[in-house]
Amino acid sequence: MRIPDPALVVLVGPSGAGKSTWAAARYRREEVVSSDALRGVVGSGPHDLDATEEAFTLLERIVDARLARGLTTVVDTLGLDAERRSRWLLAARGAGLPAVLVLMDTPDAECRRRNSSRDRPVPASALAGQLRRHRELVRAAEAEGWDLVHRVEPDTGRVADSAAERTVHRTTPERRTSQGLRVVLQVSRFPWGEDPAGWMAAIARAADEAGFAGLALMDHLIQIPQVDRAWEPIPEPWVTLGLVAGLGTGLSLGTLVTPVTFRPAGITAKAAATLDALTGGRAFVGVGAGWWAREHAAYGLDLPPARERLDALAAAIETMRALWAPGTKAYDGQRVSLPETTCYPRPAGRIPVIVGGSGERRTLRIAAELADGCNVPSDLETLDRKVDVLRAHCRAVGRDPAEVAVTVLDLPVVGRDRDDTWARVERQRGRSPAAAFARRTNAGTPADQRDRYGVLADRGVDTVFVALRDLAGPEDVAALAPLLA
Ligand code: GTP
Ligand code: MG
Repeated sequence: MRIPDPALVVLVGPSGAGKSTWAAARYRREEVVSSDALRGVVGSGPHDLDATEEAFTLLERIVDARLARGLTTVVDTLGLDAERRSRWLLAARGAGLPAVLVLMDTPDAECRRRNSSRDRPVPASALAGQLRRHRELVRAAEAEGWDLVHRVEPDTGRVADSAAERTVHRTTPERRTSQGLRVVLQVSRFPWGEDPAGWMAAIARAADEAGFAGLALMDHLIQIPQVDRAWEPIPEPWVTLGLVAGLGTGLSLGTLVTPVTFRPAGITAKAAATLDALTGGRAFVGVGAGWWAREHAAYGLDLPPARERLDALAAAIETMRALWAPGTKAYDGQRVSLPETTCYPRPAGRIPVIVGGSGERRTLRIAAELADGCNVPSDLETLDRKVDVLRAHCRAVGRDPAEVAVTVLDLPVVGRDRDDTWARVERQRGRSPAAAFARRTNAGTPADQRDRYGVLADRGVDTVFVALRDLAGPEDVAALAPLLA
């Protein structure tokens, strides 16, 4: 940068072009005279347009006073007013200082994008006017008599610390196996004895070290009979994920699945946004319609008929998305209207929503219409059929099927070797014949499971949620590492 110093430096660029950011990175705070900041001094804040006239009166006095003392002065306004520019230029001349015009060459689309993800965006029509005037000025600037016209190239590679930037880039690269799968550990049983927090942390650390892409927790109020006895612990998942978030792993964290009947959708949106902020963009939400009457009755929750629950599922996804969107504007959607969408902390990235449940007529349709993923059973026959139906729904609603990832929940019996595998089958099979149970649960070693996952990947599966039926501790998780190579 060959900008002389001391100098008068006049910034020019539409809202969101990056003027204030550029100045803050190069000059002392006292050297930058900003109309926004002065609006905040004489008015209620940087956006108080009623204070504009007085703010500019002050700005002119400060510019004059500093230049008269030979001090570097950076003028941070839109810079689009020709009369003001010529005044500042003359003042610099009078003080014997070089006058520099700094033109921000940020592309229009980038200004619009940054503007729309701001808390208080400039109205689109006003921004369009600024962009037009800026283009005219860029052509005319050389003729105005500046000692230097400095153009700032768009800097797209920079990792900015703004909320806008974080919305676009998720911070951790996705973890995929060589088969192209994301494998997420789903935890549905919690045999944590006397040390719940220690057990949970050890499971999460083991999953992180083994190379899992994420950790998913089941969301039930009473342990379901398919997994364990009703008096075994089944912790509230969002609270528990908060503990895992604090461990600083690279795992994606979420639920598989949260029933829409448990919490109003806005509260789930809040929990997920908070988790996403705390993990730097690694939250996801599995949602389903809810099904188990007993837990609803026990906790005083309604379990309306399926039709209403599915309506609620679609509305929940719409509500979450509305609250996670940038800004605070009112939302008037197909199923939901909200007077404002003020939800801070904002999520750090786009939070994936995965619909669980595979009802072909409505659940898969809702997934096709609204979700980022759809979770279906992992046995090949069912999988193939559900994927066909899901894709057909996508076509029917005009959605690119590639936008809805196929995820499966897989519940294998995994043993270190043949002996260990059959010992586990024997312990878990209950009254089922051993061979049938082993077949149904795909009993085998991690290498056997890996072969099977290759087939799933070939069938178009994006993510496997793997749950161990007999998960006891972190060593069981560590033993799955060969699955994740
Ligand atoms: P107004 O004050 O509204 O006229 O905008 P401004 O031109 O001062 O823009 P500001 O510096 O406030 O930047 C707007 C947004 O763009 C912020 O979220 C910045 O973090 C982001 N930003 C600014 N400069 C850069 C840059 O060089 N690269 C990237 N990637 N983002 C930037
Ligand atoms: Mg600014």
